[in-house]
Amino acid sequence: MSVILGIDIGGSGIKGAPVDTTTGRLLKERHRIPTPDGAHPDAVGGVVAELARHFGLGGPIGVTFPGIVQHGRTLSAANVDDAWIGLDADALFTEATGQAVHLINDADAAGLAEARFGAGAGVGGTVLVLTFGTGIGSALIHNGILVPNTELGHLWLRDKEAEGWASDRARERDDLNWKQWSKRVSTYLQHLELLFSPDLFIIGGGVSKKADKWQEHLKLERSRLVPAKLLNEAGIVGAAMMAQGNAGQNDGGNPPATPASGPKPASKAARKK
Ligand code: BGC
Repeated sequence: MSVILGIDIGGSGIKGAPVDTTTGRLLKERHRIPTPDGAHPDAVGGVVAELARHFGLGGPIGVTFPGIVQHGRTLSAANVDDAWIGLDADALFTEATGQAVHLINDADAAGLAEARFGAGAGVGGTVLVLTFGTGIGSALIHNGILVPNTELGHLWLRDKEAEGWASDRARERDDLNWKQWSKRVSTYLQHLELLFSPDLFIIGGGVSKKADKWQEHLKLERSRLVPAKLLNEAGIVGAAMMAQGNAGQNDGGNPPATPASGPKPASKAARKK
């Protein structure tokens, strides 16, 4: 058994729990601390350190982030403070906790966990996990291997960005009933189906616990579609899985080497969308 602390940074709460990464099970009840106002990196680092102290587990820590994460740097900030853009967040959190911290995009974490222990367990080929909440997150997994930072919520469909048009926030903002929202989501999914031919779509995020409202309305041409299974545990589990992978690949749990030029933030147009 390998036990790693997984932490999920969300818009309203930052949640953590120790995860058995061989089974994907949480070994203790999740502990939740409200996200500090404005979610500034220093304040969030303080909460991550508090969660680390709360569980008192040694070793690496995996943390999710709702934006692009490349080689430990956070490179976009669609729904969080601009101060994250270009920040070496792995280093900031490692200093705050005194433990090796590795960040991963929130949807990538959820995708890893769903593909291995949740709705995608045992499914080969291409699995596309999409999370619908404030934004739309995406995780592309082929035979268990993640292609990180796909950011498919920012895909443009004619003159509309998918996230602004078909997220759960858009459903609430435009006062859509589930059938109307599902029509938008079907348009989006059919386009993704054309681009990636997934064997399986997994629909996660806040809407996954209301699958009875939308599942029958989503129409695809060729792929199977199922709701996510791990619900609000997926991010925590996936973050821990990733931190363990990092710890195994690098001596001392150091993050992968950063290319000499360093990763660059996403273009201005992309990173705030
Ligand atoms: C961000 C993604 C994130 C998704 C869900 C989007 O706005 O760009 O990185 O995965 O929201 O939080």
